[in-house]
Amino acid sequence: MTTVLVLNGPNLGRLGVREPEIYGTATHDDLVEACRETAAALGLEVEVRQSDDESELVRWLHEAADTETPVVLNAAAFTHYSYALRDACAQLRAPLVEVHLTNPAAREEFRHTSVVAGVATGTVTGFGLDSYRLALRAVAGLA
Ligand code: DQA
Repeated sequence: MTTVLVLNGPNLGRLGVREPEIYGTATHDDLVEACRETAAALGLEVEVRQSDDESELVRWLHEAADTETPVVLNAAAFTHYSYALRDACAQLRAPLVEVHLTNPAAREEFRHTSVVAGVATGTVTGFGLDSYRLALRAVAGLA
């Protein structure tokens, strides 16, 4: 069975209390549950991890590269400026789907740039937790 690594970057552990008018009231635990349910329905295994630490995210991406594991990545604010994460993503050998809860293109100017997008297989933005469900469906279609 294919295992998909879902990686969430900084501040996403605070979903539910973080700017609910923007990010909604679902918590990170709800996000994990949504990924588990969707993965099970698609016949995938899923592992969801969250870190505020750039180097930890880089390490997890290296692990995914070495094990040829598909990745669903919400790099959060790192999306917009972390060349380290971008370079780690470029090493992946299985599909990478970039996800965002919100639609960064419809928000502040600094969010319009994604340094990850150019090395992603595809991107899903703007659908809240459904962004993750859609990303997992995309991975299942490619697996
Ligand atoms: C986000 C969008 C980013 O701009 C922001 O920094 C986040 C969350 C999203 O999921 O909508 O932390 O990645």
